[in-house]
Amino acid sequence: MRLSKCHEAKGEMALLEWFLLLGFSAATILVHGQPGDTMTPTKSIVDGQILISSDGTFELGFFSPGDPNNRYLGIHYRGTPDKTVAWVANRISPLNGSMGVLNLTGDGNLVLLNSTGYVFWSTGTSNAINPVVKLLDSGNLVLIEGTSKNLLWQSFDHPSDTLLPGMKLERDLRTNVDRHLTSWKSSSDPSPGDYSYKLHINAVPELFLWRGSVQIVYRTGPWNGRGFGGIPEMKKNNMFRFILTGNEYEATYTFEVLDNSILSRLLLNETGTVQRLVRYKSNLAWDFYWWLPKDPCDEYANCGANGVCSTSYSPACDCLRGFTPKSPQNWTMRDNADGCARRIALNCSSDGFFGLEQVKLPDTSNATAHSSKNLEECKDWCLKNCSCSAYAISGGSGCITWTGDLVDIRVFTEGGENLYIRLASSELGHRRDNYGKKKLIVIIISSLAGFLLPVCFIHLLWKKNRKSKQGKTITTHYTESRGNELELPLFDIHTIRTATNNFSDDNKLGEGGFGPVYKGQLDDGEKIAVKRLSKDSVQGIHEFTNEVLVIAKLQHRNLVRLLGCCIEGEERLLVYEYLQNTSLDCFIFDRRRRAFLDWQKRLNIILGVARGLLYLHQDSRLKIIHRDLKASNILLDEELNPKISDFGTARIFKVDQIEENTNRVVGTYGYMSPEYAMGGIFSVKSDVFSFGVLVLEILSGKKNRMINQREARVNLLGRAWRLWTEGRCLEILDKAVGCAYPESKILQCIQVALLCVQEGSEDRPTMAEVVLMLGTESALLPQPQKPGFYIATPLMERNWSSSNKITVTIEGR
Ligand SMILES: *[C@@H]1O[C@H](CO)[C@@H](O)[C@H](O)[C@H]1NC(C)=O
Ligand SMILES: *[C@@H]1O[C@H](CO)[C@@H](O)[C@H](O)[C@H]1NC(C)=O
Ligand SMILES: *[C@@H]1O[C@H](CO)[C@@H](O)[C@H](O)[C@H]1NC(C)=O
Ligand SMILES: *[C@@H]1O[C@H](CO)[C@@H](O)[C@H](O)[C@H]1NC(C)=O
Ligand SMILES: *[C@@H]1O[C@H](CO)[C@@H](O)[C@H](O)[C@H]1NC(C)=O
Ligand SMILES: *[C@@H]1O[C@H](CO)[C@@H](O)[C@H](O)[C@H]1NC(C)=O
Ligand SMILES: *[C@@H]1O[C@H](CO)[C@@H](O)[C@H](O)[C@H]1NC(C)=O
Ligand SMILES: *[C@@H]1O[C@H](CO)[C@@H](O)[C@H](O)[C@H]1NC(C)=O
Repeated sequence: MRLSKCHEAKGEMALLEWFLLLGFSAATILVHGQPGDTMTPTKSIVDGQILISSDGTFELGFFSPGDPNNRYLGIHYRGTPDKTVAWVANRISPLNGSMGVLNLTGDGNLVLLNSTGYVFWSTGTSNAINPVVKLLDSGNLVLIEGTSKNLLWQSFDHPSDTLLPGMKLERDLRTNVDRHLTSWKSSSDPSPGDYSYKLHINAVPELFLWRGSVQIVYRTGPWNGRGFGGIPEMKKNNMFRFILTGNEYEATYTFEVLDNSILSRLLLNETGTVQRLVRYKSNLAWDFYWWLPKDPCDEYANCGANGVCSTSYSPACDCLRGFTPKSPQNWTMRDNADGCARRIALNCSSDGFFGLEQVKLPDTSNATAHSSKNLEECKDWCLKNCSCSAYAISGGSGCITWTGDLVDIRVFTEGGENLYIRLASSELGHRRDNYGKKKLIVIIISSLAGFLLPVCFIHLLWKKNRKSKQGKTITTHYTESRGNELELPLFDIHTIRTATNNFSDDNKLGEGGFGPVYKGQLDDGEKIAVKRLSKDSVQGIHEFTNEVLVIAKLQHRNLVRLLGCCIEGEERLLVYEYLQNTSLDCFIFDRRRRAFLDWQKRLNIILGVARGLLYLHQDSRLKIIHRDLKASNILLDEELNPKISDFGTARIFKVDQIEENTNRVVGTYGYMSPEYAMGGIFSVKSDVFSFGVLVLEILSGKKNRMINQREARVNLLGRAWRLWTEGRCLEILDKAVGCAYPESKILQCIQVALLCVQEGSEDRPTMAEVVLMLGTESALLPQPQKPGFYIATPLMERNWSSSNKITVTIEGR
């Protein structure tokens, strides 16, 4: 039965294409028959008739978004079930009832009237010879003179809430032209609502999202040559090209879709969100490509003047280095509106600069552009002019300098520009503590060697503070330029001994990456899991330190939470939140317990792991490669929500770093990507591979390593691939999943998993794409290529043992 369903799914695709073809031919017939795509003064369009663009993408006609009595004339995407409206003519004056007619007068005025001749809307054009109205394939309705082809009027000059490819947002300070998007009032009322999305000609053009005429909701950041600096998603890709042209008086912004099979639009919706939507021409449902504002740090000036916002930290707001909250009391109450002020006044002659990386550059309203200056000249200029408070180089515009307050800065994990902030020289040498609490400060210089903090250093610092018990904090500096701090409570060894019943065997939960793990309970009742570093483990010291460094910086629903650490004498302990349900492998590979995991729970686990991994790769301020993702490293809480654990082997990448080579391959056989296992090359894509394996294991309830007796040489990946190519992919499903599940979603999961385990790392999707693909119902996914390692090849193991530089952690930790 299932087998045939899988084929049916493919059959549906073909059918859809068929309908599409039919749609096209219908359009062609209509061109020869009644309306077609053009209209002349002898024809009129009454309610119920339409114009269709020649390629069948758009149609012009009457519609009612809400009250059926209210009729509007508009352009929509043809065939979309909810009539995705791209443009509305009579936004503010609906016709009452279906007696509307669109007439073109002989001298070229396009008029929308009701049966008694009352005019609801018109183009106001006149004196034309042989006027013709045409709906173009781009969705642009144009009014031209038939013989001269003079353009008299076009709908693209009158945007409503949607920007189509080729349509321009435009601002001209001399002629006061301001073409911008305005939201609908509500989904049933196209009249202009509260929100508008406009080009501003500051030092550099930027787009602003306004609510009414006083409140700025969001700002894109200055143009950087490829896109707007505050939208990291706007980088070079083969789907879109973004185009901004302009000078100090005028600017226009538009975009093109490079991929012919794709449609895209930018929509300002009624609740003030700008959405970039995409769909394949063959698929009628739209997907979100990005939307703005997407998090609290996107809110304009969320942290006030001279504040900086980062979603990876809680609270998200901090003052720029060298600045303190203007009103500390308000600031502690998370009211950041009044912002920050300089701690030490500038001394014009001896100031210096502090560089902040990967930021959205501040509002350029009061900034100046010096397009010809390079970084060095930019710095010199800023240093010489006492009122200059910061400078930066932005791809599209060269040098930008700011005066006064710096407003609306946020930090990204990917993309963004460098900003150099002027500070008094005394602020530059060392960093002073912001809040006056006493803290230990450990400065870690990230070196080529990676992340190896001499443990004795912590130890020494710890000894100095031995008297204190819980509540002391270690503060680590990641790198000077980032200037961020984190706090990690130190636990007292007696507390831990009491909590774990002196590390009794009864409390032992299992063996972790570098030693045993114990369950415990603190005095206040909180349950903890304590990881104890084996005393003789040299490897363990690296991993322990690494784990502290990596995980202490992270906070996410799908990552296990580190509560603190303890270093005393020989003892090195990590204290975690305790998770009731142990690890995922105890469920999916267990004959009895697998029954607890129905389809919905499995999907929830897959999505949770995907989000946790996305956070590691991209959404935290660091780029972290886990390197040992596997079922036994996914812990489950009471509600069976997944949490990624075991960061002993994780690596922190520089954000622009793509891959790294190591001759110490750590990880688990069965989960390692080919390029990592064979060549020691790891990247985010090696984690994606492991994720793909994990998804297949979750769906099938089988270990990748487990070789099927009958198909001796093929592992789980190989089996999944074979079933996929034969169209029998649902057969891979664990019987314990039961029957109540949507097959299309399972097919989607399998397809995504197969995309993740493709042999070529560049073919594998990023976790961001994985989350997007899993999150939408209707995404049209690429066809996967052959997976890497789909044959359980003994050759691999020979490779490992022949090189004693490479060590492998075999599963079973
Ligand atoms: C609209 O045009 C049609 C024919 O082109 C004409 O019969 C009709 O009277 C016009 N309606 C109005 C209100 O001008
Ligand atoms: C619209 O027309 C209907 C009947 O044709 C009438 O009952 C209604 O009052 C009209 N509404 C307005 C706002 O004119
Ligand atoms: C045409 O619209 C006007 C203005 O709304 C209205 O007064 C008139 O009754 C309408 N005519 C018809 C036939 O609905
Ligand atoms: C506008 O877009 C945002 C983000 O996609 C969404 O959460 C919100 O519901 C949308 N508003 C409406 C009215 O559709
Ligand atoms: C602190 O917040 C209150 C209430 O929002 C405001 O009235 C006050 O001016 C703020 N204090 C400062 C120093 O800005
Ligand atoms: C600025 O610093 C220089 C060198 O430290 C010092 O000589 C000068 O007096 C200072 N000027 C002001 C206005 O403080
Ligand atoms: C620009 O300067 C004006 C006048 O000083 C000030 O009111 C405004 O807040 C400044 N804008 C920004 C973004 O700094
Ligand atoms: C310093 O910069 C400000 C703002 O850009 C400018 O108005 C002023 O003329 C500059 N002063 C000098 C001496 O260049």
